[in-house]
Amino acid sequence: MRIRGLIALLGLGLGALAGGAGAVSPLPTGIPVSAPQRLSETGLYAPDGSIDPRNLPYAPQYPLWTDGAAKARWIRLPEGTAIDVSDADAWSFPIGTILWKEFAFGGRKVETRMIWRTEAGTWEFATYVWNQEQSDAILAPADGLPDLVEIAPGRRHSIPGVADCLACHGSSPSPVLGFSAIQLSDDRDPLAPHAEPLRPGMVTLRALVDFQRLDPPRREWADDPPRIRAGDPVARAALGYLSANCGHCHNDRGPLARLGLALRHDDSGAPDAPERAVATAVGARGRYLVPGAGRDGSWLVAPGDPAHSALLYRMESRHPSSQMPPLGTVLVDADAARLVRAWIATLSSGGHGTILSPSR
Ligand code: HEC
Ligand code: HEC
Repeated sequence: MRIRGLIALLGLGLGALAGGAGAVSPLPTGIPVSAPQRLSETGLYAPDGSIDPRNLPYAPQYPLWTDGAAKARWIRLPEGTAIDVSDADAWSFPIGTILWKEFAFGGRKVETRMIWRTEAGTWEFATYVWNQEQSDAILAPADGLPDLVEIAPGRRHSIPGVADCLACHGSSPSPVLGFSAIQLSDDRDPLAPHAEPLRPGMVTLRALVDFQRLDPPRREWADDPPRIRAGDPVARAALGYLSANCGHCHNDRGPLARLGLALRHDDSGAPDAPERAVATAVGARGRYLVPGAGRDGSWLVAPGDPAHSALLYRMESRHPSSQMPPLGTVLVDADAARLVRAWIATLSSGGHGTILSPSR
């Protein structure tokens, strides 16, 4: 199935991935120093309004929860370049790489976010707010637009400011959060909450390997696709969710490493090593106390005991002082909370045997 499935999957994107498309600079003015005023000027679209075929769609297997927003994502890798993946956990993208992510609520596009790597090697962040007619989107102010659209009774979606982008995108070893080995793995998790199906033309890890867009080539990622190291399907999905939704802040390489809570999956980990989340959260004490549980009754994750697990308590909170993640969402992700609760309930209080032995 491998190669044939791959070709079918790649469809339109194939030529672009092979680097065969014409040598047009990523943006009309080359790689911009500052963001263009309109989304239509960023290179996302072709003149006829369709997505420019040089921009390849992809879907991370564990998407970020943004209050139920429907999302679409594209990457443009400059022609003839490869991503430096010598550090498996911190991919380094070529100068001129651009990624876009579109957010829609109730079938209407609300914003399209963009990050790109400039000539100087830095990353820039911008977001575009869609107009009433849904014909184009305008650059949002750098400090965002609070409470722009109602998404549930009394709850509104805010357009984040650049400082908010950085709170999430600046806390990991790489500022690109959803285009990584685990996220693009062809061994996709059937229980991942809100997983978006792969559509024709979407890039996966195997496609990047086959089209030589990784350096070193990492053949092993095509032959034996990365997956969360867990002993059962519920643990796998719960740990994958936490990695994607929390691990960009809670990891052991960014500014929050001092908290000692590492929820991010490491693609460089040995196949039999426990996930860092298991090692740092299960049966571990944190600073935060579950209300009413006191110091003795609070764990980050209390094995077998969701009610005394601060991690779940904070996921289910939308009180500003306790909610996790602290920004970017105003509604609890009920599906994910149910999954994490089920995972915690399965952990035996005597030890963590079930989650330490990976099954492949
Ligand atoms: C709450 C944390 C958070 C905030 C705030 C945030 N992002 Fe992200 N963003 C993520 C995560 C996690 C992903 C990867 C998962 C996904 O795409 O669902 C992502 C993905 C993206 C992508 C696709 C490329 C990538 O890194 O995977 C773009 C583009 C993007 N964000 C731009 C922005 C911009 C611009 C802002 C600010 C206006 C912003 N984001 C604010 C967490 C955040
Ligand atoms: C934008 C960065 C960011 C994201 C994303 C994020 N957190 Fe946090 N988290 C923090 C910060 C900062 C603290 C420390 C301050 C505090 O406790 O409020 C923290 C603290 C915590 C603590 C308490 C740790 C302790 O020692 O007691 C838990 C538990 C936690 N987060 C869970 C989560 C979970 C679960 C998610 C994902 C659903 C998540 N966080 C996503 C920034 C983040």
